[in-house]
Amino acid sequence: MNFKAPRGTHDILPDQQPYWRYVEGLIHPICGRYGYRQISTPSIEETALFVRAVREGTDIVDKEMYSFEDQGGNPLTLRAEGTAPVVRAYIEHGFHMLPQPVRLYYLSSIFRQERPQAGRYREHHQFGVEAIGSMDPSVDAEILTLSRDFYERVGITGVSLRLNSIGCPLCRPGYLGELVTYYRERIAQACPDCRKRLERNPLRVLDCKVEDCQPLIEDAPHSVDHLCEACRDHFAQLREYLDVLDFPYELSHRLVRGLDYYTKTVFEFYAEGIGAQNAIGGGGRYDGLAEALGGLSTPGIGIGIGLERVILTLMEQETEVSPIESPAVFVAMLGDDAKKVGIQLRARLRQADLPTTYAPGARSLKAQMRQANAGGAKVVLILGEEEIREGVVTCRDMGTGTQETVGTDDLVDYLQRTLRIC
Ligand code: HAM
Repeated sequence: MNFKAPRGTHDILPDQQPYWRYVEGLIHPICGRYGYRQISTPSIEETALFVRAVREGTDIVDKEMYSFEDQGGNPLTLRAEGTAPVVRAYIEHGFHMLPQPVRLYYLSSIFRQERPQAGRYREHHQFGVEAIGSMDPSVDAEILTLSRDFYERVGITGVSLRLNSIGCPLCRPGYLGELVTYYRERIAQACPDCRKRLERNPLRVLDCKVEDCQPLIEDAPHSVDHLCEACRDHFAQLREYLDVLDFPYELSHRLVRGLDYYTKTVFEFYAEGIGAQNAIGGGGRYDGLAEALGGLSTPGIGIGIGLERVILTLMEQETEVSPIESPAVFVAMLGDDAKKVGIQLRARLRQADLPTTYAPGARSLKAQMRQANAGGAKVVLILGEEEIREGVVTCRDMGTGTQETVGTDDLVDYLQRTLRIC
């Protein structure tokens, strides 16, 4: 038998963990600065939640969800995206009673059965931010600013933002009518997938990657030219806020999203140098979502930031992150008595917050020293028969190669002093 991680999933090995710790370590203080509080939702939800939120006709619902029935016959789905569960929690816990908007963030794994490629996985991790309960375009600006702060603090350069408004249930049908008519008149130029999209989810034709469809998309009608007054004002106000913030962005009429709950503002952030899958964050408004999930009519806006892609960008840009320290103290033991004293000694050192390790089994002193060196130990404590008889430890400073004999009672003090200098 030769097991491997399932296709499209990946192990995050110890060598990559410093990146994750570094990025996650920045998320909490940034969210705190904006008044966002963390929420965690289950990895499974009722399948109907995602179907209601993301809707049929999207790739996620039609072919990418990991859905199954549990032993009791309940239809469940692994978290296919982060927004629907958070809005479900908002409704379930009566968060409409709190001061609005309710500002929430999460770190979640997301499961989608997509075709794996560089930067696209079947399980990925998102840092998501949601502000639920306000229509005000200043909240749209807040989500964008928080995201930009995150990318900046993490140290990614060359991030760009594309922005669009796709209207609301009042104005979108008119726009979709125009779009469908435009495509029908040129149907011979559209790829077979776009012909299907016209029936099921016309907005998605604008996201087609097929070469032959590109001229069609370029000349297609723009949603921003078909907004109702409320959507037009909202978008104009958001753009004014972005202007006063000196926030650069590109208006993109072809930016539509892969989830169907969006209304008004939609956006994506892109990174340079990580290949085709370069969207490092995407989101928008979802003013109809809470109501579609059985709650009161409640507007909302948020973003999902793909952490694998952020970390790929960091690695690509050779951003330095601090390594996770390996244990500074290594206990080398010779003989069975030493092993008994050693096990007690290690317990004492760890209680004193001194990271300590050792090599199990009966190895020569030379082999133990080699292992200590390979593991990056700063001090090796040598326990042999003589040391045990005399109640001392031989301490070898691995940096200078000098050795000192220290009484076991003084050891914690000695190590605390020595390791501060090392
Ligand atoms: P999304 O665009 O599907 O939006 O995902 C957000 C981000 O997650 C993407 O921009 C990308 O960075 C990352 N991502 C998505 N799929 C993958 C994948 N297969 N492998 C690696 N990374 C991936 C949402 O999920 C919305 N819930 C975002 C949102 C929050 N909208 C409003 N609030």
